[in-house]
Amino acid sequence: MELKNSQTKIILMRAFAGECQAQNRYLIAADTAKQQKLNVIERLFRFTALQEHQHARIFQELLGECAGESVEITADFPVDVSGDIQQLLDLAARDEKHEAETVYPEFARIAAEEGFLPAAEKLRAIAEIEETHRQRFERFAQLWREGMLFRSDSTEQQWVCLNCGHIHTGSEPPSECPVCSFPQGYSIRREDTWKML
Ligand SMILES: [Fe+2]
Ligand SMILES: [Fe+2]
Repeated sequence: MELKNSQTKIILMRAFAGECQAQNRYLIAADTAKQQKLNVIERLFRFTALQEHQHARIFQELLGECAGESVEITADFPVDVSGDIQQLLDLAARDEKHEAETVYPEFARIAAEEGFLPAAEKLRAIAEIEETHRQRFERFAQLWREGMLFRSDSTEQQWVCLNCGHIHTGSEPPSECPVCSFPQGYSIRREDTWKML
């Protein structure tokens, strides 16, 4: 089957549109977090936004045979407008879950059925990535909900300053980093730093 006459062409364009929107929703959410001086949340959204950008690129490349044409799609996309960090994190986690569990597995099935195996493979791989996005957003949504983003039950907790790398041990990160003077919003649990790499 030629891509031009396929359903795969439609779903790849839907995936591209979805990724473009996810990237921008996250960049907007990052701006909101920045306004609230929550650098750790801002980074979470920017880091994920960059990955969505790469997913968009991959889907566009898979549409390469249709270069110069346009593809009509019908789809619904979420409106995640909020000034509330909790809501932004919860909505992001919900959207990632939908992509990981419903949208991309279904798209991968369609591409495989039509014989577009590289596309099916990328769709499956990206579904797995979206699952890690869901987990990451849920982790921070839970910390924020419980008031534990900058608080721990353990006095042995290590906190890393995302600006200069200073490590502080205690139940709370300092209100200002003693090394670089950046605010508490740059602090993250040491075990969570890998999530921001
Ligand atoms: Fe994505
Ligand atoms: Fe994602």
